Order: sequence, then C-alpha cells, then structure tokens
Amino acid sequence: MGRASIRYAPAARWATVVALGAAVAVLTACSGDSYPQSTLHPLSDQTSAIDALYRHVFWWAVLVFVVVQTTLLVTLIRFRNRPGAAEPRQIHGSTLVEITWTLAPAAIIIAIAIPTIRTIFEVSGAAPAGALQVDVIGHQWWWEFRYPELGVVTANELHLPQGRPVALKISSADVIHSFWAPRLSGKRDAMPGRITRLAFTPDSLGTYLGQCAEYCGDSHANMRLRVMVSSPADFQAWVTAQTAAPAPSDSTQTLVLAGEDAFEKIRQPGNHSCIACHTIAGVSGGVIGPNLTHVGSRTTIAAGVLPNDSAAIARWLHDPSAVKPGSLMPTIDLTDQEIAALVAYLQSKK
Ligand code: CUA
Repeated sequence: MGRASIRYAPAARWATVVALGAAVAVLTACSGDSYPQSTLHPLSDQTSAIDALYRHVFWWAVLVFVVVQTTLLVTLIRFRNRPGAAEPRQIHGSTLVEITWTLAPAAIIIAIAIPTIRTIFEVSGAAPAGALQVDVIGHQWWWEFRYPELGVVTANELHLPQGRPVALKISSADVIHSFWAPRLSGKRDAMPGRITRLAFTPDSLGTYLGQCAEYCGDSHANMRLRVMVSSPADFQAWVTAQTAAPAPSDSTQTLVLAGEDAFEKIRQPGNHSCIACHTIAGVSGGVIGPNLTHVGSRTTIAAGVLPNDSAAIARWLHDPSAVKPGSLMPTIDLTDQEIAALVAYLQSKK
C-alpha cells in the first residue's frame, strides 16, 4: 500500500451529509408534545425513579465521553508528526497516570452502582398495604385484567385510579410475554406457571399506551394495551358499570336479538362458536378469549389494534387473522347479516 490516503468521492460526501441530516430529522421527531411510549416522560413513582437513575448514568457517561474525546483530540493534534520534527521524548510507564486511570473509573462505577442498587430495590419492592390488586394474564395475543377484590374482568384496557398504588400480579396463559406501559412501569415478564409482580402509583390522568415487550409469536407486535388513569370517582363509576348485571337485550332491537341468537347458536366445523371461547355474563362462560360482558364500553378491540366501532368489529369478525396474524380466533363463515347482527349485539354490551 502506498501513502495515498482514502479519498471520499463528492457523491459519498454528500451521501454522508444527507444521512446525517435525515438522522437529525428522525431523532428530533421524537420530541414534541406527545410521548405515547416514552420512558423519558415518566408518570408514576416507579418510572420517575428509573428516569432519575437513567439521567444520573447519562451525565456520568457524558463526562467520560468529554474527557476521553478531549484527551484524544488534544493528543492527536498536539503530538502529530510534523515535517522535520525531531523524534519525541521516549518514556515508559507513569505511576501517576496508572493510579489515576484505575481510581477514576472505580470512583465513577461506585457513583453509578449506589443509586442503581437503591433503584433496583425501590422498583422491585412490595406494594404498600391498601394497593389496588390486579391480576394481569398474558395471552396470545391479548391482555386479561382481573380485579379480584372488585369482581371485574376486562381485556386490554387497564383502568386505574389516580394516586392509588396498584399491585399487579402477572402471569401467562401460554408463552412468555412481558407487560410494559413505558410511562408508568418498567417491564415485567409474564410467565406461565409463575407469578411476577409490579407495583407503582400512577400520578397523572390520561390514557397511556403499552405493549407486550417479549417476542411471543406471530402477533407479538399486535399485543397492545392501554392504561387508563382516571380520578378515584370516575374509576369507581367504571367499576360500578363493569360489575352491574348486563341488561337483557332490548326486545324491540331485532338486530341485537338476532346477534344474541348468533352469538349463542352459531357453530362451525371444529365446533367453533362464540360461546366456546368468550364469556358474556348470563349467556356463556368461555375463557379462551376476552370476556365480552361489557365489550361495548371499551375504546378498542383486538388488543388495541382496531377502534371499537361497527366497521372495525365487522372487519375483525370477517377475518381475524387478517388483522392479527396467527390469531387464535378462527375465521368463521359468517353471512353479512350475521356479522351485522353480531356487531349490534356486541355494541349493546356496554
Ligand atoms: Cu405477548 Cu409478545
């Protein structure tokens, strides 16, 4: 190899500039007014603790970066070879430097380790007495939320009261999933045959997105969840509505009645039927799929993939696997009339 240095063609230089510009544009898109899944905008005691630790480690990393890069640049410029320069003084070893670069990193590691260990204990601690108990069960591909003390069973939308600690007891019905609502909690694996726990106190009203954070099969990316934090009074109103006995279908609503009939009676080869998998209080008791007793009160269906409206429910009933690949809900051969009736019936289940 001769001494010819690598030269970038103008095109390559421009490509670099454009790539950097695009990176800046993409990264700045992360800021703005909405942070649906940002861990940098915490809204609970737990995520605030994690965020504080993250910022602490970040500034130590900045310090290390600046010191190392400055030293490197100064060395490269100051001690570079110049034409006609004499050979630099030759030295070997320096006790002072050796001690400095052993002790300084050790001190930084201690400064990081102490708050890290404290935060690990803080976010793994048991929930305080009086915490709201919620059983979280991961399924392929949806979330079941059960409130054992309140008698509420729902899916994909976790309702919590503002300011009250919540104790999540997490498990799985099939494979390993991971519960994660980034603005409210760290991740916690949901494992079959094993209980894991998360405890935190949501401090802001609103709806926050979350999702499964452990690859669990075809529709892992479609295993979404929402955490809806409301005032204690609104939460109580929700509980009251969820625990109320479902009203019998209105006898003047023929489409709703036809839907109830279809829900109870449709059977397909392989014995596929709505009631085999879904619970509607007073109608059926299946436990494979989400409890639909109050499905009409939810804002989304299909684990948060679709809005809860007529067109989306019809689309879902028509071909679940087209919405959530691999969905355990089979494609049932329904007529358009049957789908319209089922949509009306499910929407009536407030
Ligand atoms: Cu459940 Cu990924």
